[in-house]
Amino acid sequence: MNRSFVVPRAVGAAPAVSDPSRHPVAPGGSAPARARARAEAPALGTAVGKAILLGEHSVVYGHPAIAIPLHGLGVRVEAERIPDAADTSSMLDSRLFTGPLDQAPERLRPAVEAIRAALNAVDADAAVRVHVRGDIPAERGLGSSAAVAAAIVTAVCAVFGRSLDEPERHELIQTAERAAHGTPSGLDAHTVVADGPIWFHGGIVERLAVAAPMTFVVADTGVAGGTRAAVTGVRSRREADPERIDALLAALGDLAETGRHALARGDSVHVGVAMTQAHELLGMLGVGHPQLDMLAAAALAAGAHGAKLTGGGLGGCVLVLARDTEHAVSVERGLREAGAAETWITTVEETP
Ligand code: MEV
Repeated sequence: MNRSFVVPRAVGAAPAVSDPSRHPVAPGGSAPARARARAEAPALGTAVGKAILLGEHSVVYGHPAIAIPLHGLGVRVEAERIPDAADTSSMLDSRLFTGPLDQAPERLRPAVEAIRAALNAVDADAAVRVHVRGDIPAERGLGSSAAVAAAIVTAVCAVFGRSLDEPERHELIQTAERAAHGTPSGLDAHTVVADGPIWFHGGIVERLAVAAPMTFVVADTGVAGGTRAAVTGVRSRREADPERIDALLAALGDLAETGRHALARGDSVHVGVAMTQAHELLGMLGVGHPQLDMLAAAALAAGAHGAKLTGGGLGGCVLVLARDTEHAVSVERGLREAGAAETWITTVEETP
């Protein structure tokens, strides 16, 4: 399926923030009745997909990175309390599996960990039923595990009347992300609840300045990526040859700096050049895939400013910077003719 969406201009709060106005039931009556209703009604959590523009892998080693939330891809979670049941009886209801947490398949462990971490955070010896639906493809480097975790912790905490502040929510998402791929940098956890592109360095998130709109095409190779395997592979190659791998990681960090300045100037040509160079370096780091190379080459042949793998790699998606929205449509066509399984278009608007 061919879908297009636009990342809206950065305004207001991210959609995943739990706030009472998002609660599907507006309780009336006395204060205790309102409190009871709040404890028992289904609560909502949402989060979005993400694409890393520059800095994946090097960010794990403290270098800076740039990522954009993909507001057209999302996950929505509804959570409710199961009356008179202990936390060991919590249930997960997702497209892949419906049943008790302890019977969930290994690939759903991040979701299970998110539920447990949230119950632990609210100190609830109670069971919840957690219903997860969304359209972020899994294992494509588009942040599905972090987004599911973000939506789950928001919804489960809201069941017990707790809205999370930013550091608390981040830490709970990270607990689930550790189950997903060991040593998450925190970049994904921040981006899936961000309202615009972010600069992430040394654990600090900043809103990124963008001086001109930039339109990207995301294209899926159809090959499952493997963030855990990719991160583990980089770590063992670094142990074997620290000098070479550290030089590659530092160069990727430098490209993120270059990209930041180019975005602030509205210089899409140099953002694109940095992206294409990053793709080369990521290949040298051992996280590439022939299908990623093929789609990146097809995008450049179609006149794109730049193209690179995005996320953990070893499969998954390429991110392509088109010349403008019209050009993005023709690049998208070219990518699909070259064999992309799915494509999306997203525009990052200039910041005010
Ligand atoms: C995965 O989306 C991004 C990586 O840099 C890992 C991380 O930042 O934790 C590969």
